[in-house]
Amino acid sequence: MEQAFDLDNDQAYLDWRARKLALHPAGIEGIAVEMNSLAQPSAAELAAVRQRVAAYNVALIRTRPANVSPQSVILLGRALSLIRTDANLLADAQAVSWITPAPLRTEDGGATTTKRADFIPYTSKPLSWHTDGYYNAPQEQVLAWTLFCVRPARAGGINSLLDPEIAYIRLRDASRTHIEALTHPKALRIPAHEQDGKMLRPLSTGPVFSIREGHLHMRYSARGKNVIWRSTTETDAARDALTQLFSTGDAFTLNHRLEAGEGFVSNNVLHNRSAFAEAPGDASQRLLYRVRYLDRIQ
Ligand SMILES: [Fe+2]
Repeated sequence: MEQAFDLDNDQAYLDWRARKLALHPAGIEGIAVEMNSLAQPSAAELAAVRQRVAAYNVALIRTRPANVSPQSVILLGRALSLIRTDANLLADAQAVSWITPAPLRTEDGGATTTKRADFIPYTSKPLSWHTDGYYNAPQEQVLAWTLFCVRPARAGGINSLLDPEIAYIRLRDASRTHIEALTHPKALRIPAHEQDGKMLRPLSTGPVFSIREGHLHMRYSARGKNVIWRSTTETDAARDALTQLFSTGDAFTLNHRLEAGEGFVSNNVLHNRSAFAEAPGDASQRLLYRVRYLDRIQ
């Protein structure tokens, strides 16, 4: 597969492209897999998930809502050979992030001190297109994530997803210059994150498209803030092509609102989230569990 991403090997690219496009569009039902237990998935269930992920880089898992817990989500990850978690600032001890606008409570009943509201994922605001962990160091990129819904919002909170391999195809078909610009090792720079004089995350510089163990990896954020793009005409044109792709939509873009008991497992596909309605009490707020991994679903 690696040869497909070599700009000097058009035949390998065209062969891979034809196989890839023949799989699409799947639609949400085409990526869905029923699972009896997240904590103890059967061999057949796992095979079905791997098959969806191999084809689309994402699968939708449906289980009974009572099955969704931080522990069961971690165990499902392990069953998919996802071992190395990306422990981010706001994750719990097991690297599970509680994605909710509700304030998290400490054991003595107080609110947590971390400034969650500084991070858009932990608000009800919309999230623009990105892959997870684009601000991580190049050697610590997020290659997979899982996202399970405990409680959806009363309204909104819809995810759109796009396989980065489709984004690559759209851009390479438009112009090989786009690919050259986005594989440049200094294409995208994310400044260090400092808070109260403390360095929380160092500067991250790297390409948008890279090849890791033979697979395409994408590092991207549509945000205008805290994102520095390489200053060349070619980079501008490639960025515009991506913006265009996201704004006009693609036949292969998936749109879905996770219901209770549903979750995505993904090789870090591009995604966004629409704004959602906040609920009056903390106990009825939208709540999702997310885990990020430095491993890929094979
Ligand atoms: Fe995300």
